[in-house]
Amino acid sequence: MASIKTTKSMAPVPCLVVENLTKDFGGLRAVNSVSLTIELGERRVLMGPNGAGKTTIFNLLSGTYPASKGKILFFGREVTGLPSYRRAALGMARTYQITNLFQKLTVSENIIMACQALTLTKFVMFRPISSHHNLIDRCNRLLKEFDLWDKRNTPVKNLSHGVQRQIEVALALAQEPRLLLLDEPAAGLSSAETQALTLLLKKLDPNITILLIEHDMDVAFEFAEKITVLYHGECLIEGTKEVIKNNSTVQEIYLGAE
Ligand SMILES: Nc1ncnc2c1ncn2[C@@H]1O[C@H](COP(=O)(O)OP(=O)(O)OP(=O)(O)O)[C@@H](O)[C@H]1O
Ligand SMILES: [Mg+2]
Repeated sequence: MASIKTTKSMAPVPCLVVENLTKDFGGLRAVNSVSLTIELGERRVLMGPNGAGKTTIFNLLSGTYPASKGKILFFGREVTGLPSYRRAALGMARTYQITNLFQKLTVSENIIMACQALTLTKFVMFRPISSHHNLIDRCNRLLKEFDLWDKRNTPVKNLSHGVQRQIEVALALAQEPRLLLLDEPAAGLSSAETQALTLLLKKLDPNITILLIEHDMDVAFEFAEKITVLYHGECLIEGTKEVIKNNSTVQEIYLGAE
């Protein structure tokens, strides 16, 4: 992983600073001058009704789309114009709103490919995968950590949606990120699966900063110290769960719509 610049001051550099981030799709302003500061190790939830601009913010952070205006600083380093792979190499990883696994491959194969994506080692043709010891070790660690060991040789398509969502988090962690962007990982899960996923998220390394898009209030309030609510592409309010729960505008536009 590439090194990250830190400042000489005593105050820790925030993991992520977003300044006036804006995205226009033709005439539609999907994200309108959003500013955020996410501290190192923070767990932050991004909420808001459908179409509020949550996924677009992830696409701007990860470099999937260029920003129309604004700045993104990752550990003090401006990454606004960097391509996705450079941001990933600096330590940003994400999951997608829609499941994004190789369905015909096994759990192990999916994880090995994710581990391999960020190493400098290139696969040599005709070299058996078992000879890539570091990759296999990392993969095995993740399989055990995520309780996927017994399922390691199962094709992903044969596993439940809940387990597939857990594998996606494991894949993102295979990249050893400093910032993890999770786009509705609990979408479409049963309540038991949601609970299992919430538990898993709460157990992740506290040094990894996590930004979670989540519609489920129970998951959001259980997981986050601070919540940011987006509405029509703008940051409506940011605060602790008590502040968010008791805000009348949030209740009207979001909780009221549940
Ligand atoms: N690639 C794109 N081209 C054009 N418009 C887009 C594109 N991506 C998103 N949009 C529009 O931008 C707005 C914000 O979409 P976005 O997907 O960010 O919302 P969201 O908050 O993630 O919603 P949801 O909760 O439904 O996932 C929507 O009006 C959407 O139609
Ligand atoms: Mg979305």
